[in-house]
Amino acid sequence: MLRWWEDAVFYQVYPRSFRDSNGDGIGDLKGITKQLDYIAQLGVDALWLSPFYPSPQVDAGYDVSDYCDVDPQFGTLADFDELLSQAHARGLKVTIDIVPNHCSNQHPWFLAAVAAGRGSAERARFHFVDGRGDNGNEPPSNWTSVFGGPSWTRVPEPDGSPGQWYYHLFAAEQPDFNWEHPDVLAEFERIFRFWLDRGVDGFRIDVSDALIKDTSWTDTEGRWPLIPKDDSCGVHQIYRHLRRVMDEYPGDRMAVVETGASDDIVALFIRPDEMHLAFNFRFVKAQWSAKDFRAAIEESLAANVAVGAPTTWVSENHDVTRSVTRYGSNLNLEGAYIPGVSGGADVDVQRGRLRARAIAILLLSLPGAVYIYNGQELGLHNIDDLPDDVIQDPSFFRTQGAVRGRDGCRIPLPWVHDATAAGFSDTETTWLPVSESYRSLAVDQQIPDANSMLTLYRDMVALRKSSPALRHGRLEWTDAAEGLLTYEVSYEGETLAVVVNFGDEPAGLPEGPVLMMSSPLDSSRQLPADAAAIVRKF
Ligand code: GLC
Repeated sequence: MLRWWEDAVFYQVYPRSFRDSNGDGIGDLKGITKQLDYIAQLGVDALWLSPFYPSPQVDAGYDVSDYCDVDPQFGTLADFDELLSQAHARGLKVTIDIVPNHCSNQHPWFLAAVAAGRGSAERARFHFVDGRGDNGNEPPSNWTSVFGGPSWTRVPEPDGSPGQWYYHLFAAEQPDFNWEHPDVLAEFERIFRFWLDRGVDGFRIDVSDALIKDTSWTDTEGRWPLIPKDDSCGVHQIYRHLRRVMDEYPGDRMAVVETGASDDIVALFIRPDEMHLAFNFRFVKAQWSAKDFRAAIEESLAANVAVGAPTTWVSENHDVTRSVTRYGSNLNLEGAYIPGVSGGADVDVQRGRLRARAIAILLLSLPGAVYIYNGQELGLHNIDDLPDDVIQDPSFFRTQGAVRGRDGCRIPLPWVHDATAAGFSDTETTWLPVSESYRSLAVDQQIPDANSMLTLYRDMVALRKSSPALRHGRLEWTDAAEGLLTYEVSYEGETLAVVVNFGDEPAGLPEGPVLMMSSPLDSSRQLPADAAAIVRKF
């Protein structure tokens, strides 16, 4: 018997950008509740909500100052409860984002740690270290932060003298917890229980693999941090503990971990007594080629077999350039750390959108869980010409503008072609400007259009729902000409053939009724370039 999350379709809602209900220009929980019918009509099984907790919003809420409340700009706990019960009433599960690696520098523990001074119990919950060199004026190691600049920031001691340094993998406003301290695990157990008691169905665990640092703080050649992830380092004990907590609750609660580690390391986090799913970012990094996508699929499936966990299929989230832009420019993301990514100059958006349609079919035909990022179902492209004065991403500020950051994939969603802020908000002054180029992609334009991206997503999710072969079938590769990716998925007597045309020439399809296609076939039943189709085999 499969558990619900093993082949579920998750829909990531980025609360700031989804729907603003109170006209302040920032999306909120009530806005999400208002649009639950839209989400339910997509046919997805579950939501993942990016952080909505109280936060100074230095990193769009991934700098949490209170893990058990709602930031007033997003609403109240009562709004959350309403969202949860309305979602459940529609058969939608709700999973929320937990940020365990770091908190905000305004979190009460961190404020207390700074105030308490060197050697205090309060400081032991973070990584406060004396500096090197004269008077400790140099940071303890040469490590750089993911968002640019050093990963150490110095604090004044309570008497005002220059003091210790604290470690932050991301921005200075995001101090890392010391997970070797028992208080930290106890606190996260409390946080998990707080939300599990409220009825959430699961968690997405941010930067899950970086909790344990090598505290020898040794300089490294690449200035990257030393973060062990293997079995001996303690990180897996943390997840085993949290798993036991989750298992006390009924209803198959689950967690998906975010980790950028290699396949063999990722597999460790999803062993049966640890977490349930791990994001698989292979599709985010794959180039537009049959070879690349085949390798991505094969290696992802193989990596998980060993631990018996299903894989996840992801082509967008709030950290990466939208796929329409990636596929329209063949941006090479291999090796890029996600926040550094921004769109290339030469983007063929039309072509990118055709290819993104093909990938919608591919994503939703594979065994495992699928994540869709809000706006992906509308075919939104990245907005890469934001003026400097509206940019919010901390990586922009920490690199003096060299990295423009992730705002371009976080633009508010367009709902109504002719409305103020394309129906996202009642004010034009939204947290990031709504792009005029999004109006023609608004939900009200796409719903009645049989050829829209939204219709394709709805149809494809529905087909997946009605065909177990597409959710958890056995996948077999079939012979294909250069540039084609072809495979069959089968389950209990049903076999479906999937063809994705990565090449330049039209391609023939196998015999049988065509159940889904991303572009119309030509008069001789050929699948055009940059398209995908599903055929039922007899
Ligand atoms: C994860 C989040 C990203 C955030 C970072 C720090 O990568 O997805 O948005 O900036 O962690 O919390």
